[in-house]
Amino acid sequence: MTNKTLLRALAGETLSPPPVWIMRQAGRYLPEYKATRAEAGDFLSLCYTPDLAAEVTLQPIRRYGFDAAILFADILLVPQALGADLWFVTGEGPRLSTITTQADFDALKPASDVHETLSPVYETVRILARELPSETTLIGFAGAPWTVATYMIAGQGTPDQGPAHALKAENRALFEALLDRITEATILYLSAQVEAGAEVVKIFDSWAGSLEGDDFRRYAVEPAARITKALKDKHPGLPVIAFPRGAGEKYEGLHAAIGADCIAIDDGVTADWAAKHVQPGGCVQGNLPNHLLVTGGQELVAETRKVVEALSGGPHIFNLGHGITPDADPENVHLMLNAIRGG
Ligand code: CP3
Repeated sequence: MTNKTLLRALAGETLSPPPVWIMRQAGRYLPEYKATRAEAGDFLSLCYTPDLAAEVTLQPIRRYGFDAAILFADILLVPQALGADLWFVTGEGPRLSTITTQADFDALKPASDVHETLSPVYETVRILARELPSETTLIGFAGAPWTVATYMIAGQGTPDQGPAHALKAENRALFEALLDRITEATILYLSAQVEAGAEVVKIFDSWAGSLEGDDFRRYAVEPAARITKALKDKHPGLPVIAFPRGAGEKYEGLHAAIGADCIAIDDGVTADWAAKHVQPGGCVQGNLPNHLLVTGGQELVAETRKVVEALSGGPHIFNLGHGITPDADPENVHLMLNAIRGG
């Protein structure tokens, strides 16, 4: 049996305490991250410099002993590898060249070209596979096609994904061709991460919550199912975590619909609800509200215990409902871990 608790939970084992890691665990709330990022110069250079990307991936493992490390990269590297311009505006977020016409789409590169841009990421994975402690699981990741498309269409983050919904309504063929291109690129990208040493992959669909009715099935569930099947066909036994954020009641039945080993949930549903409606399908990851790592105190301890307790009857990976924010106090992560592991 493996000593990697994360892999055991993904295989369906109920563990007490549950394995734990947190989204954005390598990030600006850590002084050592800020120092390495300054050394790299800018965020994209950090993503594409394997030694530095591996270093920031390892920092939260050294500080906290999380049960999993997540590769340091970004979901927007795939659009860049497909030929989109990508840059980050400090204090605002990502900017990309937009895809709104057939001509914009025709200028994109074929999916098979993505390795040219993304090969430094595979080198980061190889370094991590060598350097991580033997009990720590290495998670690779990519954005889900819908979420990545929302950024490619709008050229930036949007509160309601309006431009992507508009393109879907006005030119569905073009919208679907873009989703297909991203899906193909994502399969190749994740497969290369696995070949380099990623032991699990996670698909981040941060904006799945704005897809309604049949759109949720067609543009959140089906692309994730297609990616999952292609990866499992090529890498038998590979565990997959799907994170359709904001799915609400639609989290029920998603393990089977996507074919994923684990469904990650945000804090829009309670852990009690998830135990009843999602955990019967398999492992659940989540779902402490991330603002509690800013505010801390007894509320953090009590809410952490509540999540652990609610999901203790089945396979569970403890995590947040969304990424830790730059204003979180690193000491609060210790408080959270003590509440999980120290009883
Ligand atoms: O530690 C980890 O979780 C691994 C690395 C990781 C990053 N981004 C690093 C990052 C992962 C898994 C992501 C995923 C990601 N990136 C998502 C999906 C998850 C989510 O949060 O919903 C999305 C939507 C993106 C796109 C993205 N990247 C945005 C919108 C931003 C700007 C907002 C922000 O937080 O600054 C980024 C930048 C980014 N990606 C940072 C980090 C650590 C901050 C960059 C910096 O150092 O300035």
